[in-house]
Amino acid sequence: MDTKKIYKKLKLTTGKEVILRKTRKEDLQKLVDMYTTLSEETLMFLRPYRFTPTEVREMQERVDWKRVFSLVAENSDKIIAEARLIRYSDSAAEFGIIVHDDYRNMKLGQNLVKMIIELARDVGVRRLIAFCTIDNKIALHIYKKLGFNVEKRLKAEKSVFDEKGFVRLAIDIRSISNQYPV
Ligand SMILES: CC(C)(COP(=O)(O)OP(=O)(O)OC[C@H]1O[C@@H](n2cnc3c(N)ncnc32)[C@H](O)[C@@H]1OP(=O)(O)O)[C@@H](O)C(=O)NCCC(=O)NCCS
Repeated sequence: MDTKKIYKKLKLTTGKEVILRKTRKEDLQKLVDMYTTLSEETLMFLRPYRFTPTEVREMQERVDWKRVFSLVAENSDKIIAEARLIRYSDSAAEFGIIVHDDYRNMKLGQNLVKMIIELARDVGVRRLIAFCTIDNKIALHIYKKLGFNVEKRLKAEKSVFDEKGFVRLAIDIRSISNQYPV
């Protein structure tokens, strides 16, 4: 995947067409709109407090396409999902993903994760890691379906997820075939 050309049209199971592409500077307001309107239920899988516009701007400013990479899904001029790849080293990285509540269960999340895997592969990452809370059945289902293995169950800090633990999953990208050729 040539990172300059990351752009894909995807038809969701509802028939809606979305664009998967690199985040742009001018997406800031759309990202703020997405992050600040996530439901309480969604936040419980991430953290128990809301995103602020300042925080979203800071997140956006960290995207440099060397250490921090970001892909978004867009529909009707709205950003409806973001997936981020954060590199720890030349060969290891972590990713995170959020699909807005209104666009769940339409196969968007798994397609965006596939795109993140291919992006990671193309920038030389071999070990890709994901974290989620132990009760996040949907994320666990998608990650395992795409080849991630549960590596470790970790106890969360009390202040962040109460007593809820979380899970670290990982994949060796070399062990899977290119799932999402562009
Ligand atoms: C996790 C998340 C990204 C998934 O996005 P999505 O677009 O809804 O996911 P998809 O539509 O691609 O796939 C959903 C899958 O979960 C399955 N699923 C739905 N409900 C389920 C449940 N209760 N238990 C297990 N699997 C379930 C669906 O059947 C589907 O799998 P399939 O394609 O094999 O049938 C989205 O739920 C989200 O943003 N959650 C909040 C943030 C989050 O948890 N991020 C990840 C961890 S930090």
